[in-house]
Amino acid sequence: MSTPRIVNGIARYEHGSRVPGWDEAADLTKDPAGVPDPAVVEVPADLRLEIESYMARYPDSRSAAIPALKAAQQRYGWCSPEAIEQAACVMRLTPGYLAAVAGFYDQLETRPVGRRPVYVCTNISCSLRGADALLAALQDELGDAPDVNLRGFECLGACDIAPMVSVEGVYVGPVDADEIPELARQIRAGDEPLPAKQLINRPSQDPDASAA
Ligand code: FES
Repeated sequence: MSTPRIVNGIARYEHGSRVPGWDEAADLTKDPAGVPDPAVVEVPADLRLEIESYMARYPDSRSAAIPALKAAQQRYGWCSPEAIEQAACVMRLTPGYLAAVAGFYDQLETRPVGRRPVYVCTNISCSLRGADALLAALQDELGDAPDVNLRGFECLGACDIAPMVSVEGVYVGPVDADEIPELARQIRAGDEPLPAKQLINRPSQDPDASAA
């Protein structure tokens, strides 16, 4: 992955985007790997069962590629070559097929990362409301936390609470600058992040829904 340059105060990758993208070419000197042989590849029984349960949900079992990779990532911390080979073995697909899926989806990790994802949305609404400074401040606070996978992310679909952060799937926002140290402390400790700012705790604008 290339290193981003700072352009007008904003980190940008070689292709101009603020996210790394998928810019690694395939190694054409290697023979393509075939479907892994179940007699050779050992797959933990519970992981196999989980992947098979996803495959059973779809008319075309390849549709289970994303949950299968997510399950493998859960076990190994990222979509490592071993994780992909095991998932491919169960699904009777080539590792290349699953590697392509893993490389496309941002929440599937193709490099070792901290196990706890913390995403700061840096898309337009959040950016206009200070997301870049928020991400930089959280990087300062959490840069040495090895179990945290802190990164900028494209729109997380909660633009009305910009600038916002997803802490292991819990949406919080709008995050004010003076709340960042407390948020960082909560992330480190594994505490609930900014409970008063969690999207899930916001009352619905529909009076009937709020009364229910
Ligand atoms: S722009 Fe940040 S959630 Fe949409």
